[in-house]
Order: sequence, then C-alpha cells, then structure tokens
Amino acid sequence: MHMIRLVLATNNPHKVTEIRKILPESFELLDLRQAGVTEDLPETSGTIEGNAIQKALRVWELIGMQCVADDSGLEVEMLGGKPGVDSAHFAGHPRNDGRNIIYLLDQLEGGQNRRARFRTVLAYVQNGEVFTFEGTVQGVISNAQRGTGGFGYDPVFVPDGYEKSFAELPAEVKNSISHRANALKLFHDFIVKR
Ligand code: IMP
Repeated sequence: MHMIRLVLATNNPHKVTEIRKILPESFELLDLRQAGVTEDLPETSGTIEGNAIQKALRVWELIGMQCVADDSGLEVEMLGGKPGVDSAHFAGHPRNDGRNIIYLLDQLEGGQNRRARFRTVLAYVQNGEVFTFEGTVQGVISNAQRGTGGFGYDPVFVPDGYEKSFAELPAEVKNSISHRANALKLFHDFIVKR
C-alpha cells in the first residue's frame, strides 16, 4: 500500500488518537516531535481560522511535508462570540481552565441568552495550497459546573439535544458530536475523494 505521510501540528497524543481513528490506514501520521519540528508554532493571527492556517503553513515552510493543524474556541452569543480565539486564556495567563470557567459564568450572570457553540477550524496544507474545514457544535452554557470528564469549558457546555454537560457525557458521545469531530469528518470526506 502506498503510504501518505501527514504531519499533525500538535504534540497532544489525544488529538493524534482522535485523527488516527478517522483517517484511512494508508496515512502515516507524525506528530511535531516525530517530524522534527521543535519550535513553537505561531498563533498570532487573532482568529481561529487564521491560527490554524498559520500553524499548518509554518510546518510546510519548515519541512515541506503535508500537514494538518487545528484551532478551536468557545463562542458565546451574549458575549458577541467571545472568548473565541482567546478561549485558552480568557481569564489571563497562564492558562487555567477552572479560572476561565468562573470568569465565563461571571460574565453571563443575570443575562438571558446562554447560547454558545464550540468551533474548530482544521487547516490542511498540501504542496503549499491551503484547504480549511470548519466544525461546530451548538449548545448552552449551564449555570453551574457539572461533571469531571473532558477539559476546558466542558463542565459548563450542554450540547443541543442532551441534558448533560460535555464533562458528564461519555467521551465516546462527546467525540462523536464535537466541533473537532465534525471538522475531522469533512476533512476525511475530502481526503478520501482526492
Ligand atoms: P485548542 O485550539 O484545541 O487548543 O482549543 C483552545 C481552547 O478552547 C482550549 O484551551 C479550551 O479552553 C477551549 N476548547 C477547545 N475545544 C474544547 C472542548 O472540546 N471542550 C472544552 N473546551 C474546549
């Protein structure tokens, strides 16, 4: 079988496992370390899509291999789409998921509209050409934290069609309906057609 090498612009083993499950076996996946990329990739564009593209293009520039990079965030209606690209550092540096959640709940205090979505943009660079795939999952921000699974804002995000937060739902459920899963499905469909 002809193997296609694809670099994933991450050193997060969970992301590698997630993408391994959805791509055909003919793809050999390398994380950044395995690809020999040691520098911190730039994430300075100010948007989720811009950051995904920036990271994937930087890998292409450095090592000339096809690459996939993703960037995600939580977008809350009442906050005009914030924290968005700043989701990891909503409550400041260094990143602290617990503080971010408390900060978010404070901001929504007294408001009526708690609708929100997670959004992922996945950027794929092949021969210097960029393709992007967007995945979202809609839901609401709960009044209090629930559950211990997942990461980030999972304890306060209740996806549409469910009563439980992402942190209470089994990982398989979250991983089948999540923003990242939806972006990955589009990427998968694109890649198997080419
Ligand atoms: P990243 O681009 O995947 O690193 O995501 C940036 C930030 O968005 C994370 O640090 C989290 O705060 C938030 N985030 C992204 N995806 C999720 C998720 O699936 N659950 C909860 N929070 C998330």
